[in-house]
Amino acid sequence: MHASSKVKTKTTTGATAKPAAAPQSRSERTDRSFDAIADHFEKKVYGGLKGEIRLAVLRRDIFEYSAQMRQRLGRPLRVLDVGAGLAQIAIELAAQGHTVVINDISANMLAKAQAHAAQTDTPLDITWHVCPYQELPAKLSTEKLDAEKFDLILCHALLEWLAEPAGVMDFFDQYLMPKGALSLCFYNPASFDYRNLIMGNFNLLDNSDYKADNVKSLTPNHPVAKEEVETWLTAHRYHVIRSSGLRVFHDYAPLKRGGHTDPEAVIRMELRYSQHEPYKWLGRYLHILATRQA
Ligand SMILES: C[S@@+](CC[C@H](N)C(=O)[O-])C[C@H]1O[C@@H](n2cnc3c(N)ncnc32)[C@H](O)[C@@H]1O
Repeated sequence: MHASSKVKTKTTTGATAKPAAAPQSRSERTDRSFDAIADHFEKKVYGGLKGEIRLAVLRRDIFEYSAQMRQRLGRPLRVLDVGAGLAQIAIELAAQGHTVVINDISANMLAKAQAHAAQTDTPLDITWHVCPYQELPAKLSTEKLDAEKFDLILCHALLEWLAEPAGVMDFFDQYLMPKGALSLCFYNPASFDYRNLIMGNFNLLDNSDYKADNVKSLTPNHPVAKEEVETWLTAHRYHVIRSSGLRVFHDYAPLKRGGHTDPEAVIRMELRYSQHEPYKWLGRYLHILATRQA
């Protein structure tokens, strides 16, 4: 790995939304930029085994399907990652030869992603847009790519940080090709309850007003339940291809004994149980890969 790779980077900026501090009512909420917590996020979420498990499950789910899609279409895919953060999966898709557009509201997050992309040996076709995803239509319309839609859209851990999460489904309707694939990963509120049951934090469960008040907290205050996401997918005519749980047991084990002391074994078991009922529905995050019917 060295820094001489050709990264076709077209970067636009225009972030306007402010970081939110856990507002109470829906009308007061704003989308949450991670600009102020980019370092903290990188270290806390991707600095260890938790992040490796998350990426291992996403890679398995997405790369198998994107390879099939590429073969069927006979060309590289056009991929969009919204709320991309460090954009690891999107960068790997670009390294596989796909044309990728990467977006985040946070310039600091995308600066980290760009530094990571610059270390790749392969030439990468990546366009970067620093702006709320809601402003992407204006950005995309200035490009030659305008007329085309995306074959694959990644939206990972974004829903729970949006003031109006359901709105992103309309955006996908506009930008996903008929029969295109949506990779939707979101925080699972059931995992919050289950972990607090295990840890004996009954006071948190009894307090229906509980909100993480720490501005650095990575526990979202407005997660969307699986059932609600499923309702949206049905209403927008998606067909679910596969669903997985991310971290279905790792975060729940207070005592790291036996196989828990072997990171490779933990990843192997997480991959296996991520697709098994009923365990997968306890994942800290859920991943749904779905195609939009023509
Ligand atoms: C929890 S991080 C997830 C990052 C990455 N997708 C991942 O799974 O690691 C959420 C990201 O969404 C970004 N974000 C929040 N609101 C946004 C919006 N309206 N448009 C684009 N990005 C947004 C934040 O800045 C942050 O980088």
